[in-house]
Amino acid sequence: MSQSAPVKSLTATAIRARKGAEPLVCLTAYTTPVAKLADEHCDLVLVGDSVGMVLHGLPSTLNVTMEMMIMHGQAVARGLDRALMVIDMPFGSYEESAAQAFRNAARLMAETGAGAVKLEGGQHMAETIRFLVDRGVPVMAHIGLTPQAVNAIGGYKVQGRGEDGKRIREDARAVADAGAFSVVLEKVPAELADQITAEIAIPTVGIGASVRCDGQILVIDDMLGLFDAFKPKFVKSYAHLATDAAGAIQAYAEEVRSRRFPAPEHVFSQEEPGK
Ligand code: KIV
Repeated sequence: MSQSAPVKSLTATAIRARKGAEPLVCLTAYTTPVAKLADEHCDLVLVGDSVGMVLHGLPSTLNVTMEMMIMHGQAVARGLDRALMVIDMPFGSYEESAAQAFRNAARLMAETGAGAVKLEGGQHMAETIRFLVDRGVPVMAHIGLTPQAVNAIGGYKVQGRGEDGKRIREDARAVADAGAFSVVLEKVPAELADQITAEIAIPTVGIGASVRCDGQILVIDDMLGLFDAFKPKFVKSYAHLATDAAGAIQAYAEEVRSRRFPAPEHVFSQEEPGK
């Protein structure tokens, strides 16, 4: 089913033009109410494949499907008016060939109204990025720690320390030259992130990278303190909603068991017609 989305005021071109200017504020979102909250303050909202871990309880992002991304993408689109909506291409939906990537990117954009897609990979994905961009698909690249490659990398480790920094810098140059409008730098040393930010012409969006990136992104459930299965060093908790929710559920359970809830103001009587 296709869904028509309103034209968003921020486009990939507008985000691209923010290189070196005021930092880009980016967050993930997976639902309509959270997208509405993010829209007021964010330039870019990512429907991240992190949805698999934070909302669906999956052990990694590898099991996330196109159908899951489309369902959450449609929900997020209903909550956005201003921010650019970017949607992640799930593992297995783009790596095989440029044609496969285009088919699935076009489906994600057509069925959700996203203004761009994000995919993981540097030099080896450059040809695919060029293919997509040439066919009207704005691409946000994602290099450094690429969670979909967790099995190949051997864990969620910092990427680009020492000599390995050269590889990440080449990845950054390759995706920028291929036409990506911005690039996520995940879990790379701050000095390397600074070097890349100075070297390439597109905005860098850091997560566990550097305060000098052109923008920052966090997973919404992480920064709200809702997802506490594990907490990487780069996550700052701006709220503690899991703790608040646990307290609220405990209070509710106690009041139900002691018959203090519902109170008179929460029930209806014969004497209140019209309510
Ligand atoms: O899936 C996701 O949420 C992401 C961000 C961490 C950048 O890719």
